[in-house]
Amino acid sequence: MLAEWFKHLTLPCPAPIRDMGYARELIAIEARHRRCRDAWAPHLEHCHKVIGDAAEGISHDRVIVLGSGLLLDIPLAELSETFSDVVLVDIFHLPAARKKVHDMTNVRLETADITGLADATWTHVREGRAGPLPPPQADAGAFADADLVVSANVLTQLPLLPMGWVEKKGKGYDEDGIKAFARRIVDHHLELLAALPGRVCLLTESQRVICDGDEVLREIDPLFGATLPATGLKWTWDIAPRPEITRQIDLRFRMTGIADLRGASA
Ligand SMILES: C[S@@+](CC[C@H](N)C(=O)[O-])C[C@H]1O[C@@H](n2cnc3c(N)ncnc32)[C@H](O)[C@@H]1O
Repeated sequence: MLAEWFKHLTLPCPAPIRDMGYARELIAIEARHRRCRDAWAPHLEHCHKVIGDAAEGISHDRVIVLGSGLLLDIPLAELSETFSDVVLVDIFHLPAARKKVHDMTNVRLETADITGLADATWTHVREGRAGPLPPPQADAGAFADADLVVSANVLTQLPLLPMGWVEKKGKGYDEDGIKAFARRIVDHHLELLAALPGRVCLLTESQRVICDGDEVLREIDPLFGATLPATGLKWTWDIAPRPEITRQIDLRFRMTGIADLRGASA
């Protein structure tokens, strides 16, 4: 934990990325993956398989990955061999991700906020503004030239840090208002994916479950009421088996992987 904190303090990044916790989250994922490598392995294999299926039967000029993060759930070497151009999009790229792609000449990292509201939310709260929270703004046009767009376990992450920032520092926002803000962000990402002309692959958690072994203690809807197509591959991600969070609980995510979102929604 101390090492994670030190890494966070010394990592150069823009103020909104630091203040809202994007850099901290990425460092935490990197560290948790190191601690829970075995428990995460089946989840990462499922993700790789769904992305592999998504890449079949289409042109292979360009693939864009949204929420590429630490490139754990992405079969990067296979994508680089299959597609002429691989674009990895994240709001912030850690040095570990830069290192992984360094020698891959057809892979490029792009830094972008795919909600278009992180900076606006940071400013809104810092300036103590009241009234409606910033709306999501990113437009699908930026990703429209891809044969394949992969939304890589990012959907339910999109609202978390903007929500947390408003909850912690915002003035006058109640729980319902913040949940509605989160729901708009989730809906916006699903609308953006639906507007893309190429194939779209969606990897996402659909339910968060806090357990004591086999006993479910609490279920949390990470989609804030939004729904996904019922089809696709389903699995459980043992994201934080005990004692990762505490000695008494295990955190699991119920996962959905849809290789062809348009086909699934039709
Ligand atoms: C759970 S991680 C996804 C895992 C990642 N695909 C991997 O293999 O490591 C969620 C990712 O979404 C990114 N993210 C969160 N909000 C974002 C935003 N508004 N725009 C772009 N990326 C965002 C985070 O930085 C993080 O890398």
